[in-house]
This record gives sequence, C-alpha cells and structure tokens, in this order.
Amino acid sequence: MLKYVDVHSHILPKLDDGPEHIETSVKMLEEEYRQNVETVILTPHFKDAEHTPVDEFVAKRNQRATELWQFAKEQGATIPTLRLGAEVLLNCDLSEIKGIEKLAIQGTRYILIEMPYTAWYDWMFDSIYALIAHCNLIPVIAHIERYPHVDKKKLNKLSAMDVYFQINAEAVLDKQMRKNVLKMIDKDAIHLMGSDCHNQSERSPNLAEAYEYLDKKVSGEFAHYLNVNSHLLLDNEYIEKYASNYYQTEPQKGLFKRIFR
Ligand SMILES: [Fe+2]
Repeated sequence: MLKYVDVHSHILPKLDDGPEHIETSVKMLEEEYRQNVETVILTPHFKDAEHTPVDEFVAKRNQRATELWQFAKEQGATIPTLRLGAEVLLNCDLSEIKGIEKLAIQGTRYILIEMPYTAWYDWMFDSIYALIAHCNLIPVIAHIERYPHVDKKKLNKLSAMDVYFQINAEAVLDKQMRKNVLKMIDKDAIHLMGSDCHNQSERSPNLAEAYEYLDKKVSGEFAHYLNVNSHLLLDNEYIEKYASNYYQTEPQKGLFKRIFR
C-alpha cells in the first residue's frame, strides 16, 4: 500500500501556533508514523507583516527541524521523513520579497499559500499570478474549504492559472464541511490533502482517518488520486489537475449523485 504524505503541518516547536514543547512535536510525529505517513512536510506560518526576513525565518525553521530530528533520535522515536516548507500568507507583493522561493516545499517549485480570510480582491489574483510568472513557483492554496468568500468563479479563475487546492483532513471528517467538499471533489477542484495539525488535542494528526473515509465512503480512486498527487508534489512532478481524468472505472458522477441524494 502506498504510504501517505502530510503536505501541511505545524509540528515544529516554538515557531508559530504549533506545539510549545519539543516532546509534543515528537509525539505528533510518532502519531503521523503510526498513521502510515512516510513523509511530513513541515509548514510553519510565514507572515510578511511580522517583518522577519525570509533568510532569518528559514534559518530558525531549519534549526528547529534539526533540533527536533536529533531529539527524536535520542528518544529512540520512529518518525516519518521530514521535509521543510512554509505556509505563506498572501500579500500584495509576495513575489517581490527577497528569497521568497526559499519558502517553497524543499526540493520543489510548489509553495503553500494561505489566502486572506476577507473577500477576495483582484490584487490577490495578481499576486498569485506574479508568483508563477516572476518566481517560477507553483502555488498550492492551503485548506481551500476554509475561506468564507470563495465561490466557483474565483476557484475557476485560480485554477486556470496553474494553481492547486489543498483540503484539510478535517474537512472530510466533519459532517458539515464534508457537504461542500464533496461538491468540490465533483468539480475536480481538490488536488491535495494535509492534516494541518497543530497539537495533540483538537488539531491532532488525522490524515489516515480522512483517507480511510474517502476510500470507503466516497471513492477509492479519488483517495488514491489525492495520495498519488502528494507523492508527485514531493518529486516536483506535475500534479494531475482533473481527478476525473484519473478514474479508470465508470465516471464518479453516479457515485456523487448517490451521496447527495
Ligand atoms: Fe496551517
């Protein structure tokens, strides 16, 4: 069985709103491993408004990751492979920030972008386009299900620009959120899944549970599609944008109609 990749996580200690203690970080990684996650991409928040230069942020992040790796080793913990990245909050001149490409997921052109939670204005689309055109990056929009002002037109506008959409595992597991997510799946508007875990309590690692739900209750092919995409991302390969192109069996439409009925 293909193991999982967690493409979105806050596990590094004392860096953002993730864990305060390194012991918690190790426990979270052990839990990821237990859930068959072979690689965790560490994506602490980067906010330009906090005025930390990229190089400083990267140095601190790398130091925390090294400390965590060594501490886990000393503890004899079995943990997944770690990759570095960031969750970068969009602003109007992201593409002009010195060293922005260093925030891409290690070894790839993919960069995890957090959108503002306000209405989505034209400058946001321009800023994302500039990342692609001027920085040669491939934006992945973090937890696409969480933005209150997003609509089909805006998603299509982003999707037309070689931008990908990630959902949190929670969006599959939560009954209310799931309704919206299933509609997005049906429209080929979901490409990746991550846990976005922050701690061991209310935002704990939960990737396997969501994959299992998708596999058993929604579509095994779609679950596999998401998982394969996360491996393609790690390998810096192009992600298949349209899940429906991936399905080998009868189109999923009938299946989704049954779900919505
Ligand atoms: Fe996050």
